[in-house]
Parts: sequence; structure tokens; C-alpha cells
Amino acid sequence: MSYRTLDDLERGQRVLARLDLNSPVSVGVVQDNRRFSRHAETVADLVGADHRVALLAHQGRPGRDTFLPLEQHADILADHLDHHVEYVHDTYGQQARDAIEALDPGEVVLLENVRMTDDELPEREPAAHADSELVRTLAPLFDAYVGDAYSAAHRRHASIVGLPVAMDAYAGRVMVNEYEANTAVASREFDGEVTMVAGGKKATDVVDVMTALRDRVDNFLLGGVVGELFLRAVGYDVGRDIGEEDTYESQWRANCDRIRDLIQNHPSDLVFPSDLAYADESDERAETTVADLRNKDHDYRDIGGDTASQFADIAGSSAAVFVKGALGVFEDERFSNGTVDVLDAIGRSSGFSVVGGGDTSRAIGMYGMDEAAFSHVSIAGGAYINALTGTPLPGVEVLRRETGG
Ligand code: 3PG
Repeated sequence: MSYRTLDDLERGQRVLARLDLNSPVSVGVVQDNRRFSRHAETVADLVGADHRVALLAHQGRPGRDTFLPLEQHADILADHLDHHVEYVHDTYGQQARDAIEALDPGEVVLLENVRMTDDELPEREPAAHADSELVRTLAPLFDAYVGDAYSAAHRRHASIVGLPVAMDAYAGRVMVNEYEANTAVASREFDGEVTMVAGGKKATDVVDVMTALRDRVDNFLLGGVVGELFLRAVGYDVGRDIGEEDTYESQWRANCDRIRDLIQNHPSDLVFPSDLAYADESDERAETTVADLRNKDHDYRDIGGDTASQFADIAGSSAAVFVKGALGVFEDERFSNGTVDVLDAIGRSSGFSVVGGGDTSRAIGMYGMDEAAFSHVSIAGGAYINALTGTPLPGVEVLRRETGG
């Protein structure tokens, strides 16, 4: 990709880096996760090059329980870096400007949650954001901007698209790695079959991805809520709600035409589950073959054992595998087999592999798999979907544009 990276940045500069440390929060406590360890690599490189480093990041959105100051984030990031990160309870006011001014080479400050400012969140074009007070105040205080918040690059926010047009802009390590791995399915030629695990609960996202990649992917392995909706489209009595919750019905209505279209026009690319797992009367895992399904009277929580080994064989022998969505409710160990067996097979194979979407990536840590066994484990959610569907990310485009790429 033709943008400048940290390798192009001269040592000893004043650098403003935008990270994405947005994290799960449990009862007010920010949960450590891959975003910290990944961004710590970018920050370590900045520190190692004697830059004076100010970091911008966000947590949650106004009105949500997860909308918090970044004090805890500074500590977690410091642990990963093994280097002090000074938290500043201000984003671009006097306190922030003083802290930036006082930085020595190799020192790092984390400015307050940028979403606590009025300027950040409106979705605007880069030039409009460049004229905001936030950008006009911060930009002159630095020599360079480092865009590293790939997982927020689908947002047209001030710190994502406004700062880089007003400053000398570079892509950080996370930005480069995520961009290259996540766009590979659309941009790279592979010497063999390309497989996508199409599972999870968010049918619209998955059907968007499948529709965009229908000519690039040889096998879509169908599981989760998505798998049931595909089975419903070919006449099985699944993919509908049996309780109060609306998991299936609205997603069916929103996607049934496109699901039918994929079935009609790409039948050989779709690999349906042949068996499914559920909790029986004793709350134990039980399985049924799809051929035996009559009336849906269970919530299906995983693909069955035969499907898991078939999917593992296909994924394990593919030249490239992209994972979008889990094949079952892996958080419940009884229903983790499908997701874990297939991830294991992908990890053991020598093919190129990308695991994305926050939820599925969590299974890797939860079941003790080695992250290094995969070519890339993405830390992006919405941005991963955009990358797979070929939708340009404003936060990436602006870095390219600013460098003539
Ligand atoms: C994310 O966590 O996916 C990004 O930080 C974007 O967050 P948002 O969906 O609140 O804009």
C-alpha cells in the first residue's frame, strides 16, 4: 500500500498517534485485550525512535456504560509497553497542551477520551473536520500524525480523518498489518482454494461479505445463526425463533432474498451443516442430523461432529481461509467444538489465514490456541467487514491520499 509508514519517519519528532483502545468493560473495569498489545508495538517503535509521543484514543460513546475516561487504558498500555504512559485528563485544552509541551524524547502521554470532545463524533468529510477546533489546536503542536486506529477507520471522525489532512501523516504498524491482511481476500491471488467460515449471529454482515466475495471464495462454511438461515432457505424447519427473543425472524426477513440468490447462483460454493448440536433434557450436548430435522423444538448452539470434521478438512486444506463468525456458542464449552475444531485445523495448516471479528478472535485465547499459528488475527470489528466487502475505509483513504498513494 502506498502510504508512508513509521519507517519513513525521521527520529526525534513530536508525534501524535491515534490508536483504537476501545475495549470491553465489565462493571466499570476496562478489560485487557489484543488492542493494547498490538498498539503497544507501534508505541514501542515510537519510543525507540526518541519521539515525543502523545496518544489519542476513545472508549465507548456518549450515553453508554462503556463511555469512560482513559485512565485505566494508560495503565494497561503501560504494562504492555513496560514504559510509563502519563494519563492526561484533557484532550486539547490547556492541561493537554502543557503536557504535550513538556514531553521529553521517549516520553508518552495518553490524552483524554477524544469522544468526550464535541468535535470528534460528527461524521464529516476530512476538510470539514480539519477546520474543527480540535484539529486546529492539536495539529500545530506536532511534526507528524500516526494513524494506527485501523479498527475505527470506518468512522469519519475528527481524529481519524481531520488530523491527517492537517498534518504530515504516517500509517502505524497496526494500520499496515490490518489493512494488508484484511484486504488480502479481495486483492491477493492464492495458489489453491479460498475458504470462508461464514458463521456468527450477525446475518446481514455475513451475507454482505458473502455477496461481495461470491466470485473470490470457493467454499463458504455455513454455521451459527447464519447457517440456520441458509438451511431454512432450502426448506428445513430451522432458522426461526422458538422463544421470545428475536434472533432469527428479523434477520430472515432482511436477508432471505439475498440468501436465496446465493443458493441459486452459487450452489457449489456453499457448504451446509449436515448436523447440529443442542442441549437435551439433561442439559447435555446432543446432536441431530439435519436430515432428521422435523419441527424446530430446540435452540441449536453448534454444528455437529460430522460437520465439524468436514469443515476442518476443507479449511485445513485450503490455500487461504478467512473467518467471519463463530460456528457455535463457543463461550459455552459444550458448544465450542465446531468453532475450536475448525480454528485448530486452520492453525495447523500452512495456508494463509485471517481470523476476524472480535467475538471469534476471543475463542483463540479462551481455548488456549496459539495466535501465532494464524497469519493474522484481526482486532477490528466493523472495519473488518468493510475490508472484506471492499468498502473503502475513510481513515485509510486519507492516509493514502495525503501521501499521493
Ligand atoms: C470498534 O470498537 O469497533 C471501534 O472502536 C469503533 O467503535 P464505534 O463502533 O463505537 O464507532
